Amino acid sequence: MRGTVFRGPYQVELRDLPVPRVRDARDAVVRVTASAICGTDLHPYRGELPEFDVGTVLGHEFVGVVEEAGDEVAHLVGQRVVASDLVACGRCRMCRLGWHYQCHEATLFGYSTVVGRSIDGGQADYVTVPFADVVLTPCPDELTDEQALFAGDVLATGYIAAERAQIPLGGTVAVIGAGTVGLLAGMCAQARGAAAVVIADPSPARRAAAARCGFSAASPEQLAATIADASSGRGAQSVIEAVGSDAALRLAVESTAPRGTIVAVGAHHSDAAPLDAGRAFGRELTLRFAVGDPIAVWDEVFALVRAGRVDPTTVISHRLPLAEVECGYQLFDRKEATKVVLVCGDVAG
Ligand SMILES: NC(=O)c1ccc[n+]([C@@H]2O[C@H](COP(=O)([O-])OP(=O)(O)OC[C@H]3O[C@@H](n4cnc5c(N)ncnc54)[C@H](O)[C@@H]3O)[C@@H](O)[C@H]2O)c1
Ligand SMILES: [Zn+2]
Ligand SMILES: [Zn+2]
Repeated sequence: MRGTVFRGPYQVELRDLPVPRVRDARDAVVRVTASAICGTDLHPYRGELPEFDVGTVLGHEFVGVVEEAGDEVAHLVGQRVVASDLVACGRCRMCRLGWHYQCHEATLFGYSTVVGRSIDGGQADYVTVPFADVVLTPCPDELTDEQALFAGDVLATGYIAAERAQIPLGGTVAVIGAGTVGLLAGMCAQARGAAAVVIADPSPARRAAAARCGFSAASPEQLAATIADASSGRGAQSVIEAVGSDAALRLAVESTAPRGTIVAVGAHHSDAAPLDAGRAFGRELTLRFAVGDPIAVWDEVFALVRAGRVDPTTVISHRLPLAEVECGYQLFDRKEATKVVLVCGDVAG
């Protein structure tokens, strides 16, 4: 089978690998039908995570069909499924509270040891899923693979960002970053009653993508004026930071109205505190960090998609065969792609 292997910054390669097998009673082996490249994959790709192991099989967003399963999850064989990017045991105290990222077993597919132990990812023909009774969910029959795919990461993350942002009905939401996470968070903010969504991004291509989704798009420099316009001067009560950089967090703090809430869902790896604490204090802001938890919210997310309140497929700019994964990473890194879906249907089981 083929798998996308990290060879170092700006180098990924599709390699022939052994087909994975079930090793534990809760494992399932999924034949991947579609996977996606995420902004989270760009952190190692751009060399921002020097500890990331060369040889890691990448990819944490995938859908497929269960081919083989351990004794405890045997009922899943033949099931069309979506995987949560976040792996958790489902049984510990943290999991029982519904805080899966805090599970002692928490890790991400295809992400080396950045979060937990290293497990192979799903930009591949097959992938082993641990704790499959928790980490997989059936794809609802009414949803296509593409409609269901993002419930396993970016849509669940956008949903949680909007949920935690304390959006007042008819309020104005500012989103920092017009990648897929930012765009889907904007759609979820509208579904939760925001009257206006303003998205800031330095990339003209991403601003165009935001405008196509019906949002007001601004460069970071224009953000304050665009928020003032969109909110009749009242400001953004809720701000979602979907970049994962110090600059973006700083912009989020600068852009939030008094008593407003900031939800940072961009992945942060810095140990500095880059924000203007004086301003945050003076405006009595609430700052929260949040990690997407598909296991906790996929039923709600599927309901939104089924009801037509959010159409996650509108963010897909490229559908490529898995064989073209290298090109997919290059297009995505250069922002020529908004979201790349890799289709595995070009190969027989
Ligand atoms: N919290 C979670 O659970 C979770 C889940 C998925 C992704 N993420 C993280 O969310 C972030 C976004 O993911 P994505 O897939 O949308 O990535 P992406 O790379 O497609 O999008 C990021 C966007 O941010 C823009 N940007 C860069 N600097 C900016 C700035 N200073 N101000 C405004 N915009 C700026 C870029 O131009 C780009 O369009 C990444 O850090 C990713 O790791 C977090
Ligand atoms: Zn992701
Ligand atoms: Zn657990």
